[in-house]
Amino acid sequence: METSKTQSSAQVSIIIPTYNESQNILKILKLIQDNLPKNTKTQTIVVDDNSPDGTGKLVEEYMQSVKKFANNTIEIINRKTKDGLSSAILKGIQIATGNTIVVMDSDLSHPATLIPKMIDALKHPKCDIVVASRYVNGGAILGWTRKRKLLSKLATFIAKRGLGVNTKDPMSGFFAFKKPVIQGLSFDAIGYKMLLEILVKAKNASVLEIPYTFTNRELGKSKLDSKTVFDYLKAVWKLYRYGKNGDNEEKRKSVSFFSKAGRFYSIGAVGLAINYLVSSLFINVVSDLWYLHATVIGIVVSMSGNFILNKIWTFEDRNFEPKHSAIQYAKFMGLSSLGALVQVAMVYLLVDHNKMEYPLALVLAVSTSAISNFVLNKKLTFKEKIWS
Ligand code: GDD
Ligand code: MN
Repeated sequence: METSKTQSSAQVSIIIPTYNESQNILKILKLIQDNLPKNTKTQTIVVDDNSPDGTGKLVEEYMQSVKKFANNTIEIINRKTKDGLSSAILKGIQIATGNTIVVMDSDLSHPATLIPKMIDALKHPKCDIVVASRYVNGGAILGWTRKRKLLSKLATFIAKRGLGVNTKDPMSGFFAFKKPVIQGLSFDAIGYKMLLEILVKAKNASVLEIPYTFTNRELGKSKLDSKTVFDYLKAVWKLYRYGKNGDNEEKRKSVSFFSKAGRFYSIGAVGLAINYLVSSLFINVVSDLWYLHATVIGIVVSMSGNFILNKIWTFEDRNFEPKHSAIQYAKFMGLSSLGALVQVAMVYLLVDHNKMEYPLALVLAVSTSAISNFVLNKKLTFKEKIWS
């Protein structure tokens, strides 16, 4: 790793992670230069992961040509491999000398004109973290597909419900904070969501959201892929465990929904195996049994098993009074069958009427019925609040 050091420490450090951004990086560096507060010593740190398109080299050449900036220095960290956005940001934070840290993307999606406002807001003693937000009044997203918007909303929803985060846009990649706020904290920096991890771990920090319009990049490609989505779920799970082991009672309550869902679906998976075993057993042992009868027996046996396991383990219900249990059993069987029906109907409608491709329709239908199955059984069969 090469790092060019500055002589005196800066007041504000701006961190720019880059991977294959040769078409954008110089523009954003210039925009940052034009928008920096004039009387403040600043440091811009590019964290590049050995971009094959030569982004790092471009930055180094640019650094040579602009040595003369009085108040702003540009530095680069060249990492050997592509280690992910959050870890790049964390690397930048670790070497930053500024007391105020600003993090932004390099692909011009984040307007540099907002930087002075963010720095100003942090001058207030009661403000620790500033989030440039797409989801407060005045904020917007331009140029994203419906699918990408939905994904962002879904991720935000999971963070709010699962982790009890109050910020409207905890997924933002554009934010600033006072460095002492994260002192003593250790970070996993998995995937994309550095801000989310900071918000969860610096839980007493006061957060201000400033609206902005996110404009999708014009040049180069987004690095978000299915691994990013998977990393996100992993990060949320880790933060969830972190919250559970913390001392915040409220937080613990708001997340138990997910452990119950986890139990419910583990039992579902075991049920599927039982279903298969029982059906094939009946077909082989009682050789003249019609295969549909075998299937029905398999379904009933596994659903009954699922019921008992869910009652005892998932919902920790210790009331075995016969009438009460029988009603629960009937509701459970009814809702599960309803779920199966909904699934079949959905696949039929999506494929036949909406001309959707079968695998996608199946995934949508299975997830809809799986989610509604859990939520409805929680609410109606076991009489719990949905979010508990
Ligand atoms: N060093 C490094 N290493 N940089 C990376 C890596 C990596 O592995 N992956 C991505 N980057 C850099 C990109 O070069 C870009 O500057 C920035 O991180 C964001 O990457 P994009 O691929 O453009 O992400 P996006 O536009 O899909 O998502 C962004 O906006 C969302 C909404 O604000 C990110 O900032 C998300 O975190 C954010 O939620
Ligand atoms: Mn982008």
